[in-house]
Amino acid sequence: LQTLSFGTSAEASIVIAHEIADLIRDKASKGENAVLGLATGSSPLKVYDELIRLHKEDGLSFKNVITFNLDEYYPMQPDSVHSYVRFMKENLFDHIDIQDKNIHIPDGTVAMENVYSFCQDYEAKIAAAGGLDIQVLGIGRTGHIGFNEPGSTENSRTRIVTLDAVTRIDAAPSFGGLDNVPKRAITMGVKPIMQAGRIIMMAWGSGKAPIVKKMVEGDISMQVPATFLQKHDNVSVYIDEGATENLT
Ligand code: F6R
Repeated sequence: LQTLSFGTSAEASIVIAHEIADLIRDKASKGENAVLGLATGSSPLKVYDELIRLHKEDGLSFKNVITFNLDEYYPMQPDSVHSYVRFMKENLFDHIDIQDKNIHIPDGTVAMENVYSFCQDYEAKIAAAGGLDIQVLGIGRTGHIGFNEPGSTENSRTRIVTLDAVTRIDAAPSFGGLDNVPKRAITMGVKPIMQAGRIIMMAWGSGKAPIVKKMVEGDISMQVPATFLQKHDNVSVYIDEGATENLT
């Protein structure tokens, strides 16, 4: 696990966006697709801004890009202001030339009895696309990756989960109160995340410093699912000055 610290999240995000752009262009030059695992939340926003800028000002095309998002609240209507479908459209997809058929986000409207097969199908689609070339991740204060909360095993698959209380508290302001935050979500499992060829983890600000320390320096444990990343051979953890505060 390689830790890369930058003065600001803006500087780090540009480096990350350029790595993603290089992959997309390299794949395009070979007539291949780039398969990206994407995250929502605040952490990747500046990366998405830079990718949009590269599309608009530098001719970067997303025609050969296939995306799989990590998670979605459950239940959730895609047109809700809180949905990750809406988030991805507003913050990335509406501003680039990605093909609709290449976008995959867990469906928060699937009937409960069909969630299991939906999740199996989601992983099958990742495999059929050739696997994730790069998975982009943020970390929750609980140590979650995707919505794999404490207690998630290394072999956990894509599934419906119960959100940790801390995660729901962190989401409460944007939902206008804790009672409005869904109790569940569909998330890509730890296993499919770990199967990505490359993982880019981002953590910004001093609020993340304690959990960053656990992720980077702590024992590998399902109590902090992000520690499983220590076992992956191609992970870079990008942190800004605030997030480094607790590292030895
Ligand atoms: C989002 C996701 C979450 C977030 C994490 C950090 O799709 O899977 O694991 O990456 O909760 O959220 P932010 O970036 O808002 O601090």
